[in-house]
Amino acid sequence: DGEVYKYYADGEWKTSSSGKSVAIINPATRKPQYKVQACTQEEVNAVMEMAKSAQKSWAKTPLWKRAELLHKAAAILKDNKAPMAESLVKEIAKPAKDSVTEVVRSGDLISYCAEEGVRILGEGKFLLSDSFPGNDRTKYCLTSKIPLGVVLAIPPFNYPVNLAVSKIAPALIAGNSLVLKPPTQGAVSCLHMVHCFHLAGFPKGLISCITGKGSEIGDFLTMHPAVNCISFTGGDTGISISKKAGMIPLQMELGGKDACIVLEDADLDLVASNIIKGGFSYSGQRCTAVKVVLVMESVADELVEKVKAKVAKLTVGPPEDNSDITAVVSESSANFIEGLVMDAKEKGATFCQEYKREGNLIWPLLLDNVRPDMRIAWEEPFGPVVPVLRISSVEEGINHCNASNFGLQGCVFTKDINKAILISDAMETGTVQINSAPARGPDHFPFQGLKDSGIGSQGVTNSINLMTKVKTTVINLP
Ligand code: G3H
Repeated sequence: DGEVYKYYADGEWKTSSSGKSVAIINPATRKPQYKVQACTQEEVNAVMEMAKSAQKSWAKTPLWKRAELLHKAAAILKDNKAPMAESLVKEIAKPAKDSVTEVVRSGDLISYCAEEGVRILGEGKFLLSDSFPGNDRTKYCLTSKIPLGVVLAIPPFNYPVNLAVSKIAPALIAGNSLVLKPPTQGAVSCLHMVHCFHLAGFPKGLISCITGKGSEIGDFLTMHPAVNCISFTGGDTGISISKKAGMIPLQMELGGKDACIVLEDADLDLVASNIIKGGFSYSGQRCTAVKVVLVMESVADELVEKVKAKVAKLTVGPPEDNSDITAVVSESSANFIEGLVMDAKEKGATFCQEYKREGNLIWPLLLDNVRPDMRIAWEEPFGPVVPVLRISSVEEGINHCNASNFGLQGCVFTKDINKAILISDAMETGTVQINSAPARGPDHFPFQGLKDSGIGSQGVTNSINLMTKVKTTVINLP
């Protein structure tokens, strides 16, 4: 109906002076669904000034009051699931049920963060000088955690609400202010989410949500001198952000090529279910998706048969119908996935299903007998395509995993816990799951990538700590 969603600044909903908007295309219908404001660099400057000044008084707001407001926001968010879930369906084609789950998980994350914050920020340390050689007990050192200032949060399209609050809640409980730049696909869901924080009654200017084109305000935001920390989740844009950003803490999660190593003694039914869940949920558009299966040759045929049978049961269609497989986020993404599939075809991979695509909708595909010379063995499709590489030794599997530029998560399936631990130690990834598919949650677990998968650790506790600095006061006795 031509309505353009307003952006949020200074505790109000505003129209950009640019007079321009950015269209959000529904991935399933490929028609324009929503429009958001195309904010200007001047508007970014104004938001940063507000964030700087609001943070000063927020840092002095008692910790229990900050927690109370976050609990309130969490409750409002859960009570208002519907508009967020609906826009998640429309702008990122997330299946309806999963969209609701994303919002509920986000509410839980905010509450957990408030609780964890009062504990870890409510404690400091007391050190005595005479434990260090040459010192008498004449210095008492008091430490506490103080906020960084303004945190810039940039979540990705695949979890616009959840990966926004996983940055917002730790930033706020720790006494920082927050500027949110949502992904274009997912912006409306983010605006609804920000509205819940607005209703909770946070001080004006403390939270802002600025929408617009990355090409116009992206670098301007990430290089802005007022920004004291960037928390980014997304693709390799993160690597260029890290090169341009100033001397500030960075928290980045930039994708993965999570390997699933399957040993001969593995419970193959369990493996098959986890390949389905890990490889195909949200059509493979998760950084922690199973992106390559490395299975011992002797059990490969049996495993492939089991996975094939389960793939046949996946439903394909509109997100409104809770289809398992829905359209991928954009046409360029679908084209990229198709490129990987065609490369594998030319080089002789075995197609367990026929390749099928309609618009942005790609049918689930299992590729067997993938070899290291195929792009799909190394690249991240971010779509419903799972390659299987047959290995003749566990070392071969570990070597493939470690030859990747990515190092987010991985998983190993075996009944031998000793082997599992040794393999976990050998895999160069931030997390290894034993006998389950990779996953970020529960959201208080540490979550971090090695190599090109990112910098800094996430998870509620780690995020709070990352968004603070240690301040010490030393009492010198006469
Ligand atoms: O896409 C990246 C997310 O951090 C993955 O989260 O494991 O809960 O799907 P998830």
